[in-house]
Amino acid sequence: MAQQHTFLTHDRFLLGTFASNCSGGMTVSKLPDRWEATWENNLKLGKLLDEAGMDFMLPIARWIGYGGETDFHGTVLETMTWAAALLANTKNLTVFATIHTVANHPMAIAKQIATLSEMSGGRVGLNIVAGWNKPEYDALGLTLPEDHETRYGYAQEWFDFIKRLWNEEEPFNFDGKYFKTTRSYGRPRPVLPPPIYNAAGSGLGREFAMRNANFLFTPAIDLERSKEEVAQLKEQAKAGGRDVGVLTFSHVVCRPTEDEAKAELKRQLDNADWGAVDNLVKLQFAHAHSFPHDLLALIRERMATGHGGFPLVGTPDQVADGIAALHEAGFRGTTLSFFHYANEFPYFRDEVLPRLAARGIR
Ligand SMILES: Cc1cc2nc3c(=O)[nH]c(=O)nc-3n(C[C@H](O)[C@H](O)[C@H](O)COP(=O)(O)O)c2cc1C
Repeated sequence: MAQQHTFLTHDRFLLGTFASNCSGGMTVSKLPDRWEATWENNLKLGKLLDEAGMDFMLPIARWIGYGGETDFHGTVLETMTWAAALLANTKNLTVFATIHTVANHPMAIAKQIATLSEMSGGRVGLNIVAGWNKPEYDALGLTLPEDHETRYGYAQEWFDFIKRLWNEEEPFNFDGKYFKTTRSYGRPRPVLPPPIYNAAGSGLGREFAMRNANFLFTPAIDLERSKEEVAQLKEQAKAGGRDVGVLTFSHVVCRPTEDEAKAELKRQLDNADWGAVDNLVKLQFAHAHSFPHDLLALIRERMATGHGGFPLVGTPDQVADGIAALHEAGFRGTTLSFFHYANEFPYFRDEVLPRLAARGIR
């Protein structure tokens, strides 16, 4: 595993999509034309992204939905199998699997990622989720540890075990608190070290990300605040002798005129599934530190249209300005979501990507 993934060797602003494997995508909507997380839709999107030179696709790992009228995220394609099929149908795109540490044995995940790495020439990535969503734990028959020490202590051992399986030549015994193994080894190995994503918001979670991830996600709510946060995170990584890129997630409504874009955003907002939005906000407050709690109440509307993502709403010039502002704030890239990914991405590709290239961001 000597070489590096291209994410780590080039400096263009990284762009990928997020959550296309989930019903509704990032828009908590009752509209009948909302995104359906079918394989057919995902395959169509994957091919469009690959041909357009986009960097990655990132799925959400979800076991049960958020209720409301539509059971937002009630239908979700499993991410490892989804990634496998997308990798088999694309040439350059990096595809992530998003994995809950507690629901997946590390030896199985080490081997699945290594298998996909071999199949795809090293285009697979891993997004590690230490867990936060109590109703999902209940549905799995597991207990969510209330404290982050246990959540991230377990995640650390889980990932240490995977790294040893990927790197050690000889069979080893793993002697941890949660895993005690004898004569473990993993072959094949990934052909390149897979890029590691993590999206912790808590202090302990971020320490985990600084030690283990190549990229950490954080919401972009107020870009002045983001500038400081990104700079502080990069300092924290540097102090630990590591380079960690900071990514965020954005929701795109791009139309030829500002009025049309605003009208479409209003249509999404007027038809939100507020029952599901409120469940989402309530669960975030109760169990996770993904969003700063003082800002969560302010972003109920952003939760409805883009799951709390940074709004990129307007003309192609305005959307390009928004992406340039994220770049300026120090972010290394962003995910994108669209109300209907496959129908709306071609306009973004034709109108926004060239503007970003002209600005030297891509
Ligand atoms: C961009 C992004 C992607 C995430 N993906 C998932 C996911 O797929 N499944 C999930 O259960 N949680 C996901 N999370 C939640 C985080 O992994 C993490 O558990 C949450 O932000 C709580 O942070 P904390 O553990 O530090 O409190 C995601 C969060 C963000 C911001």
